[in-house]
Amino acid sequence: MDLNTNNWANRLSDANSDVGLHTIKLKDLLFLREKEYFYRNFVTTFPSITIGSITLVDQIVLLCLDELLKPSAILEIGTFQGYTTRLLVKNSSAKTIYTVDLPSVEQSILLSPDTQKVLSDGDYNDDYLRDIQNRSGEIYLQDLDAAELQRIKLIKQDSTSINFNRSFQGVNFVFIDGGHHYDIVRSDTDKSLSIMDQGVIIWHDFASGIHSDVTRYLNERAISNQIFHINGSLCAFQLVGF
Ligand SMILES: C[S@@+](CC[C@H](N)C(=O)[O-])C[C@H]1O[C@@H](n2cnc3c(N)ncnc32)[C@H](O)[C@@H]1O
Repeated sequence: MDLNTNNWANRLSDANSDVGLHTIKLKDLLFLREKEYFYRNFVTTFPSITIGSITLVDQIVLLCLDELLKPSAILEIGTFQGYTTRLLVKNSSAKTIYTVDLPSVEQSILLSPDTQKVLSDGDYNDDYLRDIQNRSGEIYLQDLDAAELQRIKLIKQDSTSINFNRSFQGVNFVFIDGGHHYDIVRSDTDKSLSIMDQGVIIWHDFASGIHSDVTRYLNERAISNQIFHINGSLCAFQLVGF
């Protein structure tokens, strides 16, 4: 990882002193990365219209943090259709991108989903996304070239049953967007922290209105940690080991 990371990380921490949940502007992140990468383009597809993927603002947040941290390995929990995995492999210089999703199953969880409930109930929404993932697979990874595919390590296993130490090497950038139940978010966070000396953890679906457990977990976590939420996005992050 780049040793200069400390400069921007310190500037961000000092400007938002103390523990707590700090809402910052996207502009603040853009400002931090601008000096070094003023003219940089990035590659993406139009945002997915499928419920459960990330927005354009979320993409910019992820790529700003990737530029600032220059991670050697990334861990994404919740591959879904591979939209974020694709974004990362196309734009990050990380050598490895681990991405985790549940194993395929024969039977759908919801036989005839209630679309209203999908948009209002977090657990139901999670079951719905598991079904879509199970049916469609990683469609956004299908046309990647061999070099890109080689950098992606797709692991089909429940994240709460994975031994992170054995499965993931050199990870310093984690994107948590798997199961949104409180216990799963906490488990994914604790296990990610256990393998990282210095880096960033980003949670998706903070303040989403559906996945209230993510918001509750991060509000609790912010009692003793400095957490940043980027206004207008569903991303919140914590710098670790700075
Ligand atoms: C919101 S989607 C992820 C969206 C993805 N990051 C994207 O950008 O499109 C959540 C995914 O997490 C998976 N998931 C849910 N619980 C999980 C668990 N315990 N372990 C691993 N994956 C899980 C679901 O199958 C689903 O595909």
